Amino acid sequence: KLRSASAAGDSVEERGTRIRVFGRVHNLRKQKDVIFIELKDGYGKMQCLLTGKLAKTYDALTLTRETSIEIYGELYEVPPGAKASLNRELHADYFRIEPIWKAAGGEDAITTRVAPGADPTTLLNLRHLTLRGDKASAVMLVRDYIEHAFLSVYRSLRMRKVSPPALVQTQVEGGATLFKFDYYGETSFLTQSSQLYLETCLPSMGDVYCIEKSFRAEKSLTRRHLSEYTHIEAELDFISFDDLLDHIELVISRVIEMILGDPETASHIKRLNPSFEVPKLPFLRMRYSDAIDWLNEHGIENEDGKTHAFGDDIAEAAERRMTDILNQTVLLTHFPVEIKAFYMQKDKNDPRVTESVDVLVPGVGEVVGGSMRMDDYNELMAAYKREGIDPEPYYWYIDQRKYGSSPHGGYGLGLERFLAWICGLHTVREACLYPRYMNRCTP
Ligand code: 4AD
Ligand code: MG
Repeated sequence: KLRSASAAGDSVEERGTRIRVFGRVHNLRKQKDVIFIELKDGYGKMQCLLTGKLAKTYDALTLTRETSIEIYGELYEVPPGAKASLNRELHADYFRIEPIWKAAGGEDAITTRVAPGADPTTLLNLRHLTLRGDKASAVMLVRDYIEHAFLSVYRSLRMRKVSPPALVQTQVEGGATLFKFDYYGETSFLTQSSQLYLETCLPSMGDVYCIEKSFRAEKSLTRRHLSEYTHIEAELDFISFDDLLDHIELVISRVIEMILGDPETASHIKRLNPSFEVPKLPFLRMRYSDAIDWLNEHGIENEDGKTHAFGDDIAEAAERRMTDILNQTVLLTHFPVEIKAFYMQKDKNDPRVTESVDVLVPGVGEVVGGSMRMDDYNELMAAYKREGIDPEPYYWYIDQRKYGSSPHGGYGLGLERFLAWICGLHTVREACLYPRYMNRCTP
């Protein structure tokens, strides 16, 4: 009996089955009569033993890490308590390496894969190789499952997925972070958010969402800002602000439940972030004005080193300290009109504030920004005027307020920030394949 298997070996249950695996040499230990190979592929790792004559062949003696290899043999359980980190090992009876499979690039580049102390710039330049490391692989696998979980949760809520354009001529979150480019002679932008387009989909498709890239020309280097990030955005029709808050809480809880319910993902998260705590329901709801008081009571100053006043932006550092002290997930609501985007609905009971929400989580701060949308034509036109935005390019957005307007709202969640929270990453740069931020656009 011969079976093909992945390096995880989990499909092989029968003793005595001869298997064939392809993989790359992740780590290697050469002893006098035996060579231990930690074989890795995209599905897992397996320990392989070359013994006897096999361990004396030219290919075995010159084997290096990251070389691709095909190995045949039988799988054995490793007795509990044995030193091996993997619970099964393949006792090879044959192996093969094609000349082109050898890691001709040399060991130097590979060493950085496993040297966490290496210079960060070098590590980033070698991202295509460091991605093969244990931590980076695990983070990317968790990321894959999180995207799957969002798709699945949204589908269970009867929401439809759409793909709005990335090349646009309108801003959403302020001119300061727009990437401009020449589009056949016209000025255009890389989208900051698909929200305005999602709003136009409500009449035809019902509640909608998208998972697309958003772009921000962030002219500062922080742990949680990227120039290109994956934005999970949703828009819901005929809802109230409370419905929106309940929905956000439900989606986050269900996604976390689902990812922790998947054994492989859960084991990665446990290793990456042993202290991750599932947020307790209901999430703490706090109004912006109460947060300002809270910050002052706790002696946390604003960016100018003064006590916080109503109307101040709560800066990244203050927000992070607040969530770390509260140590729980917070729905921060009712931000003042002046510090929020033009499209946000005002609170009927207090027109100084908007029906807006940020979700804050420990270790990261804001992971979600959302709001109810201004649904009245005249109010929207006044908002453009107040913000000094030319309404002309927004004619299609404004039209939504002329043809069957509705109470609606939505939110955007930064996937990299969400992942940084779940996996306990120091920075969102570790949460993407190839991070893009100020002065980095390579590899
Ligand atoms: O708060 P933001 O700017 O809100 C919007 O874009 C809304 N139009 C979304 C909507 O209602 N559909 O961005 C939403 C989220 C933030 O909470 C954050 O998680 C993430 O997007 N985000 C970034 N992530 C990484 N790098 C950046 N530069 C980010 N800017 C925002
Ligand atoms: Mg925001």
